Amino acid sequence: MRALSIRPATIRDLRALVRLEEASFPEPWNENLLRSEIGAGPSRRYTVAVLGRKIVGCLGLMTVDDEAHVNTLSSDPAHRGQGIATRLLLDGIDACLADGIRHLTLEVAASNMAAQGLYRKFGLAPVGVRRGYYAGGEDGLVMWVYDLDRPDEIRRREGIARSLPSGH
Ligand SMILES: CC(C)(COP(=O)(O)OP(=O)(O)OC[C@H]1O[C@@H](n2cnc3c(N)ncnc32)[C@H](O)[C@@H]1OP(=O)(O)O)[C@@H](O)C(=O)NCCC(=O)NCCS
Repeated sequence: MRALSIRPATIRDLRALVRLEEASFPEPWNENLLRSEIGAGPSRRYTVAVLGRKIVGCLGLMTVDDEAHVNTLSSDPAHRGQGIATRLLLDGIDACLADGIRHLTLEVAASNMAAQGLYRKFGLAPVGVRRGYYAGGEDGLVMWVYDLDRPDEIRRREGIARSLPSGH
């Protein structure tokens, strides 16, 4: 398995990111929205996972004070279940902590069990529901993990990192 690397997203990645969005979401972000997010400055942190020369994942974080919000997270359908989203989240959380950001939140579709499983693994717990949050009318589950710098949270992520497949 070739090594997976993670780097900041750039404008040159836009076409690949549109393809990834379209393969991943019923209401994918378009190129203009992705461009404005990537260029939005220090409140945003967009990273891509790269395998060989191919972009196989993307994480977009938005930060406010000491909180980060997952704006988007996806991995290439041909490479799912191989730890790509896990790597992106581990990297994103490390970067947040280095910047003094200690809490993480997101909305996830109520029916999206794969993503909910991923987030629960990272200690995110559901705290509420936004009724009809998604355009199709589906509810959004609001999840949070607080104090990512707590020793038990650090140990949790160390365990996750150890369980990643080799090369990742
Ligand atoms: C959700 C998503 C990002 C996961 O990406 P991935 O690269 O396959 O994730 P990983 O391989 O790192 O898996 C990590 C964990 O996610 C959960 N998971 C991933 N795929 C799963 C599936 N098909 N069923 C159940 N749980 C799943 C598991 O908890 C898994 O941990 P495990 O391997 O220890 O069981 C990917 O399926 C995706 O892009 N989906 C479409 C977009 C989306 O729903 N994004 C989330 C928006 S909130």
